[in-house]
This record gives sequence, structure tokens and C-alpha cells, in this order.
Amino acid sequence: MATLLNSSFLAACRGERPARTPVWLMRQAGRYMPEYRAVRRELSFLELCRSPERCAEVTLQPIDYLDVDAAILFSDILVVFDAMDVVVEFRPGPTITTPVRTHDDIAKLRFGDPDAELGYVFDAVAACKRALANRVPLIGFCGAPLTTLSYLIEGGSSRDFEHTKRLMFSEPAVFGRLLESMTDLLAKYLLGQVRAGADAIQIFDSWAAAVTPRDYRTHILPHVRQLIDRVRTAGVPVIMFARGNAALLEQIATTEADVIGIDWSIELDDAIRQIGPGRVVQGNLDPMVLLSNPDTIRRRVLDVLEAGRHAKAHIFNLGHGISRHTEPALAKLMVETVHAS
Ligand code: CP3
Repeated sequence: MATLLNSSFLAACRGERPARTPVWLMRQAGRYMPEYRAVRRELSFLELCRSPERCAEVTLQPIDYLDVDAAILFSDILVVFDAMDVVVEFRPGPTITTPVRTHDDIAKLRFGDPDAELGYVFDAVAACKRALANRVPLIGFCGAPLTTLSYLIEGGSSRDFEHTKRLMFSEPAVFGRLLESMTDLLAKYLLGQVRAGADAIQIFDSWAAAVTPRDYRTHILPHVRQLIDRVRTAGVPVIMFARGNAALLEQIATTEADVIGIDWSIELDDAIRQIGPGRVVQGNLDPMVLLSNPDTIRRRVLDVLEAGRHAKAHIFNLGHGISRHTEPALAKLMVETVHAS
């Protein structure tokens, strides 16, 4: 039976430089793939997230088609609310029907037990592992404490994070306790994914840039650090991806994260200069480059690979999720270009 011992992705996570730079894509299973759209004609997005065997099918679609070096569990950062009796709908953007705003709302919140209430996610992890048969490692994930909490408070995606920041500035102790409870729930959730078979974990702080660097350091970073430390006790590498704020990289570099995800808003070599040459980086091709043409894609992929040589190790990825308007053949060309150089 195949083993993951020679996985280029896991080697890079450990700080080694495998012969070929490993590559995967954020949101690699999704609407740009016709095979995914076919599954979605049968099931709504949440039905799909709650069907372990179908999750495994969709998780493997980009493994088969793109030949990437890691799989990422098909799920969503918002399914964790199933452990809190908070209802999420996708219309198609995520909507929380009962956002948490007042003291009364906060008092009624229940931070449940992921082991008891998110069993379908752990079943999906196990189904993915069976289907993968050790071809490539499986990445589990969750949203970071701030990102997850902001959906709960704002009731969906937000531009200004008005309610979240009002609470942070006016009642920092209440805000801190909410983040602490959220962090505890997320840690249990990730440890459950690892027990079910996840080989690595990525934490998505998609809305890290909602707060100033100083507020991130004071209010947010301690919880991120706690989450990373708890997951690392399970012995799997942790990738920390904080989107949209190059100004946070030095803070992220003070955590024990094994890999630091770099978004496309900073040049990869500048990012490496900021965090130092001793860290493993992941990123950071602008996903919209994939909307162009083969020559442009090859050129921009080589630029990112060249910059990545300054780091201890480099996992090639996009600087954020792949666009749904991407031509699958061009995503495949990106992967081939990384593997060939
Ligand atoms: O990377 C992967 O392939 C794994 C699957 C994955 C999804 N969402 C599937 C998905 C992952 C890792 C996520 C993470 C996620 N979800 C994040 C963090 C990453 C980021 O983008 O910053 C966030 C913020 C969410 C919340 C979320 N889920 C939003 C805002 C949306 C709506 C997006 C839209 O354009 O409609 C989703 C839905 C979602 N999650 C889809 C997929 C494939 C599209 C659903 C569909 O099929 O209609």
C-alpha cells in the first residue's frame, strides 16, 4: 500500500525542499469544475457538505484532474455553527438568520461539542482518506477565531465589520471571552478532524484585515496562537493563512505555525524578507492570473517560484481562492508549470 512518507507537500511542511515544489489551490474543488457543477445540480451546497461520500467524491475531483500534491476536505468554515444551533443559509452568499449582537444574544449562545454535533465532517474526512488511499495527504481546516466570530456577529459577509468592531472597542472583555469560547470550539473541531485522518490543517483568517495591526496583536493574535498550539499537540503541520493584510506577517511569524500562507497583496520575496528565511511559505499567485493566457500564466508562475527560493521551503498556491470563472485547463497548466520547473 502507498504511504505518505514521500509526500512532497508534507516534506515542505517540515521545512525540507523536495525535488518538485508541491502545489495545491485554495478552493480547488468548486464551481470552476464542470464535474463539481454536475454534483451541485443534484444537491444544495449544505446538503453536499453534510454528505460524507459526496464530499469525498468532490474532494478528489481536482486530485484526478489537476494532479495537485494535496487534497483539501470539501466543506466550509461555516458548518461549525451546526455545533452552536446557529442556522446558516447560502443564498448564495452565507446568511446567519439570527446574528449575535446584544448581551441577550450572547448569553443564549451555546458552544457545543463538535464530537457530538459535527460527526458528518469527521465522516467526510474518513471518507476522503479512504478514497485517496494515500495518493496525496488530506488538509483539514477551519476559519480562524475572528473570521468565524465575525460571521456570527455580522450575520454574513461584511464590508465594514461594524458590529464586530463595536463590540471589540466598547466591550473588549466580552469580545475576548467570545473569542476564547470560539477558539476552544475550533480547537476541538480541528483535533477531531486530525483524529479522523487529516494529515495537515489550514486555518483561514479571511477577514484578518478587518482590524488594525495593533488591534490584531492585542485582541486576536493570542487566540490564534492558542489555536495553533493546541492543534500542533496532535503532531500535524499547521498552515496559517491571514488574508488581506501584509502588515500582519511579522505577527503571524511569531506563532508556531509550520507554514505561513501569503496572499497575493504582497510580493512573495518581500513577504519572505519580512518573516525571515527560516520559515516555510505557501502562495501566492494572484488567482486572476489564471483568467489570462498560457504565456502570461507560465511567466507569472515562474516569477512566484523564483521568489519562493528565498524561503526555507515553498508550497505553491494561489494568493486566495480560485475564481469560479477559471478555465480548468489553465489551472492544470499552472500545476504542470510548477511541476516541470
Ligand atoms: O478549498 C477547497 O476546495 C475546500 C472547500 C472550501 C469551501 N469554502 C467550499 C465552498 C473551503 C476551504 C472554504 C473556506 C471558506 N468558506 C472561507 C475561507 C476562505 C476564503 O475564501 O477566504 C470563507 C470565508 C467561507 C465562507 C463562504 N462559503 C462564502 C463567503 C461562500 C460564498 C462564496 C460565493 O461566491 O458564493 C461560501 C460557499 C462555498 N464554500 C462554495 C464552495 C465551493 C460555493 C458554494 C456553491 O457551490 O454554490
